[in-house]
Amino acid sequence: MKKRSEKFEVLEKKREQALLGGGRARIEKIHASGRLTARERIHLLFDEGTFQEMGVFVTHRCTWPGMAGNEMLGDGVVCGQGLVNGRLTFSFAQDFTILGGSLGEAHAGKIIRLMDMALDNGAPVVGISDSGGARIQEGVAALAGYAEIFLRNTLASGVIPQISAIMGPSAGGAVYSPALTDFIFMVDQTSHMYITGPSVIKQVTHEDVTHEELGGAFAHNSRSGVAHFMAQDDENCIDMIKTLLSFVPQNNLEDPPYVKPGDDPMRRSPDLNGMVPDDPRAPYDIKDVIRAIVDDGFFFEVMPLHAENIVVGFARLNGHSVGIVANQPNHLAGVLDIESSCKGARFVRFCDAFNVPLLTFEDVPGFLPGTDQEWRGIIRHGAKLIYAYCEATVPKLTVVTRKAYGGAYCVMSSKHIRSDYNVAWPTAELAVMGAEGAANILYGKDIAAAEDPEAERRRRIDEYKDRFSNPYVAAGLGYLDDVIMPDVTRPMMIHALENLLNKRQTLPPKKHGNIPL
Ligand code: HXC
Repeated sequence: MKKRSEKFEVLEKKREQALLGGGRARIEKIHASGRLTARERIHLLFDEGTFQEMGVFVTHRCTWPGMAGNEMLGDGVVCGQGLVNGRLTFSFAQDFTILGGSLGEAHAGKIIRLMDMALDNGAPVVGISDSGGARIQEGVAALAGYAEIFLRNTLASGVIPQISAIMGPSAGGAVYSPALTDFIFMVDQTSHMYITGPSVIKQVTHEDVTHEELGGAFAHNSRSGVAHFMAQDDENCIDMIKTLLSFVPQNNLEDPPYVKPGDDPMRRSPDLNGMVPDDPRAPYDIKDVIRAIVDDGFFFEVMPLHAENIVVGFARLNGHSVGIVANQPNHLAGVLDIESSCKGARFVRFCDAFNVPLLTFEDVPGFLPGTDQEWRGIIRHGAKLIYAYCEATVPKLTVVTRKAYGGAYCVMSSKHIRSDYNVAWPTAELAVMGAEGAANILYGKDIAAAEDPEAERRRRIDEYKDRFSNPYVAAGLGYLDDVIMPDVTRPMMIHALENLLNKRQTLPPKKHGNIPL
């Protein structure tokens, strides 16, 4: 009897030790840096009492001097599954208190097993990075661990949603696992991502740059477009992850969750009738349009700080999750450039992979001209957005609020690329280009030769506007299903979406396409 209780004590001690990670002093250091520990993050993520840990007592097998005999239970990563908002979710959180959360063979093995289980069970993975990268003492075995994770990230891509949260350092090749996942969250001031840090950069390119400038949350959310969300702190980050998960299905064979709406599907939005200014050059905020239409005005924007000329994000229409893509007249007149094309294309592909219908708002003057764009490959990058929309087989709805000019008309979910329901507001202009440009090209010589060139120019512009700068030519050709008053957009879109919920469309059989990367 006595012997038995000693064994229990051993277990209790080991568990206590495992729960403490690298010890109280290191936990205090983490807290002092403004971060939570791996276990605190896991606790916040999962519904109370549902998290079941895997590999609690796993240790490294490294024989490097100083490592043998210095094994830490769990080996620097907390792995397991449980419920997030009532739905099965797998998660791993790197524990910086154990060898700086560095990844060795056993640590990687735990993550690999978790990813395999998530794929087998068709449930999302949330990976929380807080790590010094490859564990230096384990050498190539650590690199092998990363490579095996990359393989699983790739195989799981488009099958289960994969979400990465960078909540501390993420350096070197370690950044590529998050980069292979669907969404990256970063926490302001306490997270950093880069393939080489400031000191290496100083040696190689002689540039002086701080950690924050180089790879902080703001840099990657605004400039590089690597990250999709910037959180204020760890708690806020976990909350945002839960919100994102609420819009997406468990896997590619399921539909996104339906949330009983609190908003009237027949609700009209009278403000929308005055939204588009009379002056075709005047800006307005497309996010006001989106909020007026979606359930409870709740729009969960993705990449709000990057390529602001296109707006993407999730919302609900009568309880159904939709992915919204919208040109933003408030920023660079909503023009399509390299960054906005890539941002839009990636979002469209995520939605299509995970059965999230697409709702597109169009007000686009075209692709951005200039040597900078041409030489950096606007042709190749713009083609990504076309490709993404063309291959998307989810229900596609389009609302043209104002300009739909040139190639951008074709790209933004036009009827010709298998959009299901396309409408325009009376303020829409579907044409090869704006009236002024068209008049100059078509009648430049006549204008120059006229007695009053300015009057002739105006006459030609008005003539073009009457003829082409409206939605009725496109509607007459059947390229638009209807021209609607702006205030009825919500009920019209809900009606169309609910008619399309059983849509099934396929692509020709192939190994995979060749998107212009
Ligand atoms: C082993 C590591 C480690 C690593 C940190 N530690 N990184 N141990 N391998 N990669 C240990 C430290 O020795 C220390 O141990 C503890 O973790 C905490 O680290 P500190 O330096 O005290 O913390 P801090 O000052 O907060 O700095 C964090 C850091 C720094 C910026 C991440 O530790 C750092 O620069 N680490 C190395 C980063 C790196 O170059 N990694 C390799 C990247 S290449 P003690 O015992 O003192 O607490 C890579 C290749 C992947 O990852 C390739 C995949 C294809």
